[in-house]
Amino acid sequence: MSDRLGHDRAEAGARVVDVAESRERPYRGETVFSQKCASCHGAGGAGGGIGPKLIGDPLSLAAAKAQIDNGGSVMPASLVRGGQERDVLAYLATVLAPP
Ligand code: HEC
Repeated sequence: MSDRLGHDRAEAGARVVDVAESRERPYRGETVFSQKCASCHGAGGAGGGIGPKLIGDPLSLAAAKAQIDNGGSVMPASLVRGGQERDVLAYLATVLAPP
């Protein structure tokens, strides 16, 4: 009985952490973006002369991920990976338009 309660509490706790985590990702991603992407894509992805404008760009997250992984023209491949890449994609999800 108390085990069950402990288990439920642990699960509820994990969900709270997940929610907090998913809320923070876009903010962390914005910081990563300003450090690694804004030099070409402009502040926040507003367009910067070298890279295309990303705000309002009708691009799927899968296509954005492929671009980040593979690069293209002067954009280097794998500028971000793992958690940083997920953070950047969470940020891009807030600025890209649906494809
Ligand atoms: C050295 C300059 C440069 C940097 C740094 C850079 N990009 Fe790019 N990016 C480009 C260029 C140029 C293109 C267009 C490439 C092409 O046509 O293949 C592009 C294309 C893209 C696209 C595809 C846009 C579309 O509509 O197809 C995405 C998404 C993207 N970049 C995201 C990022 C992210 C996220 C970062 C940081 C991790 C980043 N870029 C860093 C230059 C850059």
